[in-house]
Amino acid sequence: MSHQSDLIADDINAYLEAHENKSLLRFITCGSVDDGKSTLIGRLLYDSKMIFEDQLEALESDSKRHGTQGDQIDFALLVDGLAAEREQGITIDVAYRFFSTDRRKFIVADTPGHEQYTRNMATGASTADLAILMIDARKGILTQTRRHSFIASSLGIRKLILCINKMDLVEYDEAVFNNIEQDFLEFANELNAGIEIQAIPVSALAGDNITSISDNTPWYTGPSLMEYLETVPVGDERKAAPFRMPVQWVNRPNLDFRGFSGQIASGSIKPGDKIKTLPSAKETTVERVVVHGGDLAEGIAGQSVTLTFADEVDTSRGDVICAANDPAEVSDQFQARILWMSDDAMLPGRRYLLKTGAKTVTALVSGLKYRIDVNDLQDRPAKTLNLNEVGVCTLSLDQAIAFDPYDVNRETGGFILIDRLTNNTVGLGMLDFALRRAGNIHWQALDVDRETLASQKDQKPAVLWFTGLSGSGKSTIANALQKKLFSMGKHTFVLDGDNVRHGLNRDLGFTDEDRVENIRRVSSVAKLMTDAGLITLVSFISPFRSERRMARNLMSEGEFIEIHVDTPLSVAEERDVKGLYKRARAGEIKNFTGIDSPYEAPKDPEITIDTVNNTPESAADEIVRWMEAKGLLDA
Ligand code: ADX
Repeated sequence: MSHQSDLIADDINAYLEAHENKSLLRFITCGSVDDGKSTLIGRLLYDSKMIFEDQLEALESDSKRHGTQGDQIDFALLVDGLAAEREQGITIDVAYRFFSTDRRKFIVADTPGHEQYTRNMATGASTADLAILMIDARKGILTQTRRHSFIASSLGIRKLILCINKMDLVEYDEAVFNNIEQDFLEFANELNAGIEIQAIPVSALAGDNITSISDNTPWYTGPSLMEYLETVPVGDERKAAPFRMPVQWVNRPNLDFRGFSGQIASGSIKPGDKIKTLPSAKETTVERVVVHGGDLAEGIAGQSVTLTFADEVDTSRGDVICAANDPAEVSDQFQARILWMSDDAMLPGRRYLLKTGAKTVTALVSGLKYRIDVNDLQDRPAKTLNLNEVGVCTLSLDQAIAFDPYDVNRETGGFILIDRLTNNTVGLGMLDFALRRAGNIHWQALDVDRETLASQKDQKPAVLWFTGLSGSGKSTIANALQKKLFSMGKHTFVLDGDNVRHGLNRDLGFTDEDRVENIRRVSSVAKLMTDAGLITLVSFISPFRSERRMARNLMSEGEFIEIHVDTPLSVAEERDVKGLYKRARAGEIKNFTGIDSPYEAPKDPEITIDTVNNTPESAADEIVRWMEAKGLLDA
């Protein structure tokens, strides 16, 4: 957890304690910058007059500084402050604001409205009970509104308030309100079943229907916004769900104490309760539920606790402690929904880090089934997901994790995807269900194993991976090298991009996602060839570091030799052996590497070949010498 989110968690806990006996409603506000979100939040905070004390103090000192009389907070100033904060808010993902009334306490996740910040909206939504969708009465339902409703409902929010704002600017016209409501209901038909929608005509600026019913809308018979917020039932699903706690760390201050610390994700736990730790599936009984100040009779969802067990069970960071009679599931293959949050498109076939609870694993997006169009919520075929798009994917993890379907438990069914090179969060996901495949297809153990096959050939298998621009000389050098190895009695095979693209990979083109798949397939074939005991020469542009690393990780330690055929673009283009550069420059070939598609040069290859000052022959000799020095050509 980052320092910032720790602070937020502390703030929230302090606030919750101060208003312990009231029920809590968490909500988010969604809408574009100009829809009046700041004004609305300002209105709610101002009219409830019970802003969380820190905020109150800050606002009071602000109004004093601005020369406002007495203790009175200036409403306009408050709204300005909120808006300014958000304008600068590029670094603030989500601002949590607290207020309470006599009946209930509230936490609002206030998120920047710009399109590129959908990710922040999603972050706020993943813990909210309700979403307020701000609509400008003059504009009606926009793509943004649909997107936000869809994300909110995907993230498990079951209550939407359609706040049709700026009614004062359309003369409080009932027909305008009805049309927008109708429009939205039609769209919402396709959202998850069981979503409750309340449309309210308001003017955040003038205060109509915010805390009391306005005389300006005599035709409206529903509740004011505040009344709805105060009375809408919120079930405490998180507390009612079966017990789950991801282990954040194992606490062992001395030999007599061994505890497992974490935040209770759902349910409750008492000394004497039977638990099961997953994925290891060991059962034991809870002895103590410890918090900072001492022991608890019962720990509940949201609390951070340390559990001790009756038996020594082998549990480590990232495991999930579950109620023994109602445990989570375990799998390494999933169908999941993913909201893509990065400017760089999602690439099926690429590996990302997947973080859920306290566990981080490597995940391959093994397939993209379809993307969901936010305008009509229909499935559309897709090869990739772009910024703000939602798709249904299959995921394959490098190890099994404990999980619940997101619709059953938001805490143990949600995850984020992280780019392995930049460490940025690039996707937010919801696990739908486990694919049974993983459990049913076992690796077939063979009696004649790879060592036997290699020793039959008197050689050590290896992959010589040539990467470089088109026309850099990869295939020429690979060809020369193969001849030398052959004459030394070695068993070799060359996998060449141009050739493999005629057969196995004939369905692939040159988009980023096709190149990723191209390399995924050829590295898998190369792996099989090393299993057969061959020295395999792979000659593919393989422009992305990420996939070359994936190929490396497939092979055994020391078996992958990355050879950068380092020919500058100007030289490759000048040679233009296949005449492709000329055509690419003329715009006849799209996505050409080095022209309008990137080449990420290796940072740390085993061998770099300078083709400007070397012939293919001498390059091949250099590689042979390198292999000899490493003992790779010994029997
Ligand atoms: S890779 O990027 O997916 O690894 P690969 O090595 O299989 O590429 O194929 C590259 C070969 O395809 C080039 O040597 C060239 O002959 C041909 N080619 C056709 N179109 C392109 C393109 N747009 N970009 C690069 N190479 C292309």
